[in-house]
Amino acid sequence: MPLPASAPEPPTGRPELGQVLVIIPTYNEAENVEEIVGRVRQAAPGADVLVIDDNSPDGTGKLADGLAAADDQVRVLHRPGKEGLGAAYLAGFAWALERDYGVMVEMDADGSHQPEDLPRMLTALADADLVLGSRWVPGGSVVNWPRQRLLLSRGGNTYARVALGVPIRDITGGYRAFRRGTLLGLDLDDVASQGYCFQVDLAWQAVRRGFRVVEVPITFVERVHGSSKMSGGIVREALWRVTGWGLQSRTEWLRSRRG
Ligand code: GDD
Ligand code: MN
Repeated sequence: MPLPASAPEPPTGRPELGQVLVIIPTYNEAENVEEIVGRVRQAAPGADVLVIDDNSPDGTGKLADGLAAADDQVRVLHRPGKEGLGAAYLAGFAWALERDYGVMVEMDADGSHQPEDLPRMLTALADADLVLGSRWVPGGSVVNWPRQRLLLSRGGNTYARVALGVPIRDITGGYRAFRRGTLLGLDLDDVASQGYCFQVDLAWQAVRRGFRVVEVPITFVERVHGSSKMSGGIVREALWRVTGWGLQSRTEWLRSRRG
């Protein structure tokens, strides 16, 4: 008896995307959390949302609980105190991997990452392992950033590109979509970065492990409400870690040529 025809393989050999989880870390985002969750639910109605709040003093966690009570597709993870963006995302990834999510999206709460760009990123993920929303590829842009932040982002990205030797234009950005298999293939226990350097850490690991990383242009819009948690300490952490990774990979490369 002939076997039933199986569904055609996707052209890339990558599995279907599966259920999407949008992870939104919050610290003092009371003025933003309701709007951003509403916009995600509208722009990508099939996606679930996980807010990860570090016990924000301004009551963001309570507002998020209200959203979750009214909508099955919204969940909240409460953490006892502020531990940085990296720690919040690692907790979110662990939460998602314990469940059967196929895609984990990173998104800021302040409106800088526009949920309306998400469908385009997910389309690109069909043929990639990690999609980076990119401000610094053709078609990408930043709206309303002060000159200092623009210089910091451009300079930081140029430095990382040269130090690490990767062709990524926006390796510091925080709007991303990971396939489940990509996160499983990274060594998340080895991620020590706490601040925004976490983003460089993950993208760099993904490239080194041979995952296909694709940049999709986005328009990054500076927040209207609340304030950035960027600090001198966060910049210094990124600088010393990126320098260390760059030196380490060059040493490994030299050793491999000699050996
Ligand atoms: N739970 C939690 N804990 N959330 C945090 C923490 C924390 O310690 N620190 C920041 N967040 C949340 C904010 O509430 C916001 O939703 C998001 O993380 C980004 O923080 P912002 O303070 O708005 O970051 P930014 O606009 O300065 O920086 C953005 O651009 C950088 C690259 O230029 C972010 O997208 C960074 O990830 C990115 O590296
Ligand atoms: Mn921001």
